[in-house]
Amino acid sequence: MYADRIKHLPPYLFAAIDKAKQEARAKGVDVIDLSVGDPDLPTPLHIIEALNKAAKDPSNHQYPSYEGKLTFRRAVADWYKKTFNVTLDPQKEVLTLIGSKEGIAHAPLAFINPGDIALIPDPAYPVYRTATAFAGGEPVIMPLLRENGFLPDLDAIDPKAAKKAKLIFLNYPNNPTGASADMAFFKRLIDFAKDNEIIVMHDNPYSEVYYDEERSMSIFEIDGAKDVAVEFHSLSKTYNMTGWRIGAVVGNAEIVAGIGKIKSNIDSGTFGAVQDAGIAALQSPPKVVDDIRKVYQHRIDILYQALVDMGMKLEKPRATLYLWAYVGGSSIEYASMLLDKTGIVATPGVGFGQYGEGYVRFSITQPTERIEAAVARLERMGAV
Ligand SMILES: Cc1ncc(COP(=O)(O)O)c(C=O)c1O
Repeated sequence: MYADRIKHLPPYLFAAIDKAKQEARAKGVDVIDLSVGDPDLPTPLHIIEALNKAAKDPSNHQYPSYEGKLTFRRAVADWYKKTFNVTLDPQKEVLTLIGSKEGIAHAPLAFINPGDIALIPDPAYPVYRTATAFAGGEPVIMPLLRENGFLPDLDAIDPKAAKKAKLIFLNYPNNPTGASADMAFFKRLIDFAKDNEIIVMHDNPYSEVYYDEERSMSIFEIDGAKDVAVEFHSLSKTYNMTGWRIGAVVGNAEIVAGIGKIKSNIDSGTFGAVQDAGIAALQSPPKVVDDIRKVYQHRIDILYQALVDMGMKLEKPRATLYLWAYVGGSSIEYASMLLDKTGIVATPGVGFGQYGEGYVRFSITQPTERIEAAVARLERMGAV
């Protein structure tokens, strides 16, 4: 019945984890779920109030525009200016998305012909790879290794594959490794993309979830990045809005237009009231995001320390909601042992790709008292 493109799909990682969780719960285990990156904190009230008001506006009841409201796109451009000092033309360089996943999943359809190569990091958010495959492209893997700070080694990419590649996907601050990229890496990346005529798709939903007051970057802080790159951004993690489905792709006008063309044939835009609420989010006073950051800072500090005390090898992330711990051996076996012994669910690294094997990912999107309870359980379990 099914097309090959879905027959060959591995089961979506989180579906398998959900099953293990349900089985544990059915046995009466008090499960602490540290497997998904879905903020537990509520969306700030002023954003909800903006939605309430906008939902009553009849102009929001009809089909929204394909590219998104100009007011929302302007708010995205203003946010980029104040956050990264990056200038964007809201008319041509910003496109509203139904969450960044939607844009990422559709983008390869605009650029990949059957057989074209896309360079994909491994481990990674699984959508880069499946979206490439859906477009008939060939994913060529770039391993993200601990010894390289979980950055791809651009010099190690087969020059023939690099020449043939149409796209490169990257994501810093990175899910699942928690790694960040610096200016020097982004500069190298842009040079590499220009030398090989590759479109850069930088996925940046975690830029505002940073720690120790070390802010994260936009790729457009690099001169000339706009010649070859777009950046996917999302309100999901910054403003606790995963359920609202709103994000944007920004940058190179031609690339943005290509994604827009695909989208206009697939969806009919983002609910206008959600875009109006998105404007309220993007215009939030700094305190809103600072307060969220403070909560995550405490959680990451205590969970990181607990994992270190257990003898796990891991770096303290500069950003993201994740701790990426080296456990050695099978990550699935480790995660199921952990669930058995502690009731804690972590994500087996192999679910993010073959180079994720040997690692598990802990997310900090549970209420602080649950993270504290997880820390106590890990302390009781002792050394690994
Ligand atoms: C790296 C990465 N990109 C994109 C997304 C999708 O975010 P959204 O579709 O909610 O904007 C996620 C969500 O977990 C993610 O981890």
